[in-house]
Amino acid sequence: APVAACDFVVFGGTGDLAFRKLLPALYLRDRDGQLTPDTRIVSVSRAGLSDEDYRDKVHAEVRAFLPPGTFDADAWAAFRERLYHRELDVTNLAAYQDLAKVLVGGEDRVRAFYLSCAPKLFGPVSRNLHEAGLITEKSRVVLEKPIGTDLASARRINDEVGAVFHEHQIYRIDHYLGKETVQNLLVLRFANMLFEPLWRSGSIDHVQITVAEDLGVGGRGGYYDDAGALRDMVQNHLLQLLCLVAMEPPASVDADAVRDEKLKVLQALRPTGPGDVVRGQYRSGAVSGAAVAGYTEELGGPSSTETFVALRVGIDNWRWAGVPFYLRTGKRLDRRSSEIVVQFRPVPHSIFGADGPPLSANRLVLRLQPDEGVRLHLMTKEPGPGGYRARGASLNLQFSETFKTRTPDAYERLLMDIVRGNPTLFMRRDEVEAAWTWTEPILAAWAADAVGPKPYAAGSSGPAAAIALIERDGRTWHEEEST
Ligand code: BG6
Repeated sequence: APVAACDFVVFGGTGDLAFRKLLPALYLRDRDGQLTPDTRIVSVSRAGLSDEDYRDKVHAEVRAFLPPGTFDADAWAAFRERLYHRELDVTNLAAYQDLAKVLVGGEDRVRAFYLSCAPKLFGPVSRNLHEAGLITEKSRVVLEKPIGTDLASARRINDEVGAVFHEHQIYRIDHYLGKETVQNLLVLRFANMLFEPLWRSGSIDHVQITVAEDLGVGGRGGYYDDAGALRDMVQNHLLQLLCLVAMEPPASVDADAVRDEKLKVLQALRPTGPGDVVRGQYRSGAVSGAAVAGYTEELGGPSSTETFVALRVGIDNWRWAGVPFYLRTGKRLDRRSSEIVVQFRPVPHSIFGADGPPLSANRLVLRLQPDEGVRLHLMTKEPGPGGYRARGASLNLQFSETFKTRTPDAYERLLMDIVRGNPTLFMRRDEVEAAWTWTEPILAAWAADAVGPKPYAAGSSGPAAAIALIERDGRTWHEEEST
């Protein structure tokens, strides 16, 4: 059922994110009847486009990003009618009057100002929205990551936006929290009795979080070269995953209950030491058999920006003392694959004796993408009369097979949560700032280190030093298993 009449005002409505993610997600929610008939999508950008031009452009650009089999001519025609475009220099207050003219229809409509623009504009746009009188009681502002480039700039942005919006109106998006498998982590942990009693240092040896991408930086070099993998992925997505694995059970899924627990994890992160972090940058190589250029060739100039990071992270609290969390993420790796691996400890004693079968420890693998699912590695007896031959085997749950439905994109869930007014899956101000507090010393150490990132070949699994980082502790990175 439709949630509430809403005006989505997308600053940067002709940008990559709008075409690739926001508009496909809104179309799919519309197709399923979740947008009220009078819900509008108003794109704002510097492009001189009429509403009709914009509708044609969306038609041309967005269709390629719809999941297979989801295009429906009637639904698309209806969606098209919701689209508007306003040419706007966002720093020019007078120009906002033009925007005001589209946003007619009463104060009980939700207004979602989606700022898919440079973070340095978050403050000025918010102030102009306020001065133009466009912020109603039911208005929300949505901030795309990155919120700043360090703690000071994040604070400044949070102050500027917070000067005109209440915290409960501010939705800081981390799209990883909208991913089905990430939400499933909450269900798996807190809707089963099986895991939670063992979810601690007594039973868990270590945790691995990998977000590997095979894509390069493509046309985003301008943004990416200033950001790098630590700011682009670790400060937000990977730390959020770590929080969901490590947090104490919240009393409910209310926004503050969950965010309070995540914050406590961020505050308990041990500062990394020099040996705990490896940064890398891809050179030319081959991905899926195709030759690809190195990062600096793509960029067209020298750079010491990292496209890969691996870290060993400690959480200094009662539950996780002594349990390392190994994190890694990178571009142009051998495949696109994201997973969380919870490696349990070995059994304390083998009753099968010293000559008995070698026993491998339990492992729980949450596959985030692609091929979403959960795999639990167990020891079983190999059938046969010849004594206790034990063998590792897996319980393997593949969501696509079990549920036989399309996995929705993260933005479909998150955009509807904004309309509903549910901020549980969005970051609170203090979380973002705590994440920067932990990240900043790593950036400072890199700035002072002349050596720069370690090279790795495109299509490999990253620099050798990342393998050494975990092997030094007598552990190995988890390799994908065949089903
Ligand atoms: C974005 C980063 O936040 O996440 C990109 O800016 C990255 O660099 C992307 O490619 C990965 O998201 P997903 O959903 O494709 O795993």
